[in-house]
Amino acid sequence: MIRKCLFPVAGYGTRFLPATKSMPKEMLPIVNKPLVQYGVEEAIDAGLCEIGFVTGRGKRAIADHFDMNYELEHQIEGTGKEKYLESIRSVIERGVFSFTRQSAMRGLGDAILTGERLMGDQAFGVILSDDLCVTEGDGVMSQMVKLYEEFNCCIIAIQEVPQDKIEKFGVIAGDEIRSDLYRVNDMVEKPPAAEAPSNLAIIGRYILTPDIFDVLRKTPPGKNGEVQITDALMTLAKEGKVVAYKFEGTRFDCGSVDGFVEATNYCYQHIYEPV
Ligand code: UTP
Repeated sequence: MIRKCLFPVAGYGTRFLPATKSMPKEMLPIVNKPLVQYGVEEAIDAGLCEIGFVTGRGKRAIADHFDMNYELEHQIEGTGKEKYLESIRSVIERGVFSFTRQSAMRGLGDAILTGERLMGDQAFGVILSDDLCVTEGDGVMSQMVKLYEEFNCCIIAIQEVPQDKIEKFGVIAGDEIRSDLYRVNDMVEKPPAAEAPSNLAIIGRYILTPDIFDVLRKTPPGKNGEVQITDALMTLAKEGKVVAYKFEGTRFDCGSVDGFVEATNYCYQHIYEPV
């Protein structure tokens, strides 16, 4: 059973400056809900109720968001405005939230290693909340948990991306297990299009087994001088321990302004329910 989910949220969100100068990018709202709440809801709906955040400087608003605000609760108690707090109240009731800090921005791999104390020695989910995933049925993390139960190894979410976008992603190659599943045998972080092993790009959803931590400790900084989770996963992939899953649903890259606006329009039209 997977019970824990890690949210690396230490990034600076430079693409959203000046909005992110003193506010975490994960708190930017998609309509009326902060980006990170969508991710946490996806984790909790998948049964991953122990949520760990790897934060950095200037991220205190995230901790406050997943805590009670008694003054606010008191102020609106018994009024028609209580309904606006329903979704976050439900998240706070169902989840347990822990925090640790990444001391320097050494990359996603380093952020995940920083979360070791919070995740312990069991398999755990990882959600990058700037990848907002919208599905018709089960959330992406729920879909991945089912696969973990079947394969008992690392599961990574992938999607097909056009050739001219591939250099922004980690890219995999693998042997097809089913039409939506690959046993990974190659992974490259942000390759030039001509060197990409496929058009299958890794997106911000992972299930990792705890042996990843020892591998991360030994993984030297790679692309951009950062410790890359892709490099660490490649070590496990060589042992046949990584399965890539073409998930059902739509992903919005809310770490970019274009993706953020697209997600906002989509959610306003299809998901937002005026309360
Ligand atoms: P990004 O590189 O997309 O996020 O990292 P960023 O740095 O916040 O955004 P820009 O590029 O400056 O606009 C992907 C995810 O990994 C986390 C980020 O918070 C984001 O969720 N991350 C990345 C860390 O937590 N620590 C790191 O050292 C690097």
